[in-house]
Amino acid sequence: DPNRALGSGDIVVVGAGLAGLFAALRLAPLPVTVVAAAPLGEGASSVWAQGGIAAAVGEGDTPEQHAADTIAAGDGLVDPNVARVIAEEAPARIADLLRYGVPFDRDLAGHLVLSREAAHSARRVVRVSGDRAGAAIMQALIAAVRATPSIRVLENYEALDLILDAGSNAAGRCAGVRLIRRDAAGSGTFDFMPASAVVLATGGASALYAVTTNPIYACGEALAFAARAGAVISDAEFVQFHPTAIDAGIDPAPLASEALRGEGATLINRSGERFLLQLHPDGELGPRDIVARGVFSEIASGDGAFLDCRTAIGARFPQAFPTVYTHCLAAGIDPATQPIPVAPAAHYHMGGVATDLSGRTSLEGLWAVGEVAATGLHGANRLASNSLLEAVVMGARVAADIAALIAPETARPVAKTYRVAEERALDSAYRDYLLARLRNTMSQHVGVVRNGPDLVRALKILREIGVEAVGDRSLVNMALAAEIIAGSALLRRESRGAHFRSDFAEPVEALRQRSAVTLDTIRSA
Ligand code: SIN
Repeated sequence: DPNRALGSGDIVVVGAGLAGLFAALRLAPLPVTVVAAAPLGEGASSVWAQGGIAAAVGEGDTPEQHAADTIAAGDGLVDPNVARVIAEEAPARIADLLRYGVPFDRDLAGHLVLSREAAHSARRVVRVSGDRAGAAIMQALIAAVRATPSIRVLENYEALDLILDAGSNAAGRCAGVRLIRRDAAGSGTFDFMPASAVVLATGGASALYAVTTNPIYACGEALAFAARAGAVISDAEFVQFHPTAIDAGIDPAPLASEALRGEGATLINRSGERFLLQLHPDGELGPRDIVARGVFSEIASGDGAFLDCRTAIGARFPQAFPTVYTHCLAAGIDPATQPIPVAPAAHYHMGGVATDLSGRTSLEGLWAVGEVAATGLHGANRLASNSLLEAVVMGARVAADIAALIAPETARPVAKTYRVAEERALDSAYRDYLLARLRNTMSQHVGVVRNGPDLVRALKILREIGVEAVGDRSLVNMALAAEIIAGSALLRRESRGAHFRSDFAEPVEALRQRSAVTLDTIRSA
């Protein structure tokens, strides 16, 4: 495709979670610069992933069935072709991860141990030590990245903007990234990095919410700067709330994996009643959006919500789920003998920068992969453990697409960056205040249950915060990302999957299509 001729500079991968590192490894030996907002392994949500990776590798399971479950969970908005391709390529990517040394759990016969998670028709989730999949996978990939000489990693660099030059069409071409390197005081120095290709792998936006399972870095900034550069954003209204974050006043809220319910743990209220059976025949293993709303309304009605693992897991807890066990102990709960207080928390952004199956965005020179992207895999409600899967399958596809475009003789050595200016930091107490206001606004007005007047209120506040934040590009980006989510939620006048509007409580067949917006659409919402 001549329209996709690459310019000069490195291939720049922005983000160092599973999607970014996997793409960088697959691009080797082409020179790649990975831009990481934190030291490797410290900022990425992938490290915190508990459940594992969904792949049809079990006896009798098939990619067709995996795709069918994905489509069913997505409430009418999954792109069936995307689900098929990703499910088909899943087993090969699991094999890649095994080659990188990921120690997936095996039984005595050497077969992969598979967890069950909600809305999967089979045991299908490969895992490590019960609930340590993300940490173990990232550990293996970080070691591989460190051992790959063609990959340069810039740690503590945050991307703030895309730089455009004249492309083959009026929209222009992404020609680089504006970065900031932060000093300990929070202010920093801007750098401009020219790029032959930019791959956004920045993760999600759930930390824009006051109650979230994600690290603070998951604040949607790339959504904002990609939209500002003209990229099309899809499905941003679909934020997935995990039903069982541990409710102990800890920010971010530690996760109690869905795999606990896969093992038979139940959700009960203060009176000990299993309240989900009235809402879905599969009860605790119903689709995540339904379970999250059930937990939300039980808490709202004052009855409380607790994950009861006493019978299903009991004394096996420390060995079976070491991560959750540690989180519970830190919160003063012994899950072997006490029900765990839980609440829904913003967990995963189904929407993002719209891409095709090569990870190409609408903007020349720009790819997106992993949670920041919207491929159409997740629709309105992501199937558990399909996110790490999408990161590796699409990471490989993005790398293949870029490698096919770049002529080996024009692959450059690492590009230098150009210092362009100093940032003046906002007063830090005022910044903290604005950020807290933003996150509370999202949790209160753009949360599990939404309505038109609340969304309008949220948009007004978020726009005010965006104006107040001028001078702090990172906070401006967060406010804009939040505005994109709230604006998209206002535009979808129906309820579907994770997007529930109390003023439009039913799905509307005529509105059953993926959203696709630009910044202009959001600004006029
Ligand atoms: C979990 O372990 O419950 C998280 C799984 C997921 O969000 O895919």
